[in-house]
Amino acid sequence: MNVTLRQLRIFEAVARHLSFTRASEELHLTQPAVSMQIKQLEQAVGLPLLDQQGKKTYLTEAGEEMYRYACAVTDKLEEAAQVFEELKGMRRGHMSIAVASTANYFAPRLLATFFQRYPDVTVSLDVTNREGLLRALAENETDLVIMGKPPEDMDLVAENFMDNPLVVIAPTNHPLTRKRSRIPFAALASETFLIRERGSGTRSAMERHFAQHGLELSSTMEMGTSEAIKQGVEAGLGLGLLSLHTLEMELALKRVAILDVETFPIMRHWYVVHRRGKRLSTAAQAFKHFLLKEARNLLSLPEVSRPRHKDAG
Ligand code: PGA
Repeated sequence: MNVTLRQLRIFEAVARHLSFTRASEELHLTQPAVSMQIKQLEQAVGLPLLDQQGKKTYLTEAGEEMYRYACAVTDKLEEAAQVFEELKGMRRGHMSIAVASTANYFAPRLLATFFQRYPDVTVSLDVTNREGLLRALAENETDLVIMGKPPEDMDLVAENFMDNPLVVIAPTNHPLTRKRSRIPFAALASETFLIRERGSGTRSAMERHFAQHGLELSSTMEMGTSEAIKQGVEAGLGLGLLSLHTLEMELALKRVAILDVETFPIMRHWYVVHRRGKRLSTAAQAFKHFLLKEARNLLSLPEVSRPRHKDAG
């Protein structure tokens, strides 16, 4: 079979996206160039691999088989590239990292320090919520992930490298900010909360915490990002529950206030995670080591002095 690696790579991208447009964008090729390579591959195989129905692209039975082989070949090539990278040591190297949206408030700073030491290492950084990270791990799309505690039913290596306290925030003129004693948890029941989207780790920790303490939230507004929640809280739409890592600027500028509520902060942790058995590039191994050894000392969090409530998730 006279098949080229270039054809396999192009086919893999088209089959993964089920779209010629998305594949050509990803590969920085024109659509006719992609179509031409696929046609030549189909000729070499002697069977149609893709079935174009109107705007939709489907894999034929032979296409499904070819996709499996194309993935296996590209995975092996990547593995070979990593072995050579290891042989070259840390002179050059690449790592792909995916971080929780909340972790993106500190990850660029850690990367900046890391790159001062290893200026020739390159990174691709993906930012998504917890659910997106679990998918990236399941599909082996990334070397390392920075996230809250991963579920135990996935075969992963996860190491805790830093605390992640979650706190309740309010507009600075909110009556609860004037309370001298600790605010009883039950006092939150009548408040409107601005909450993260489903799939967010912060959101599930919040739901777990409220359920554990038998409190139901009567009124919530879902906002997709920590930024939207902070803006909403500042504007007086309600209270928010966010990681302290997201609040550095707002607290320094006194745009929002942390409420001193019983059972808070909820203590989550940051983990550096990868698939068990994953062959990490030298760069990824060095970054993991750096996170475990140094992240805690490089990043300082605003103080919250109260006892901590451990999150079970
Ligand atoms: P999130 O993740 O940005 O998806 O909320 C953070 C976490 O898991 O605590």
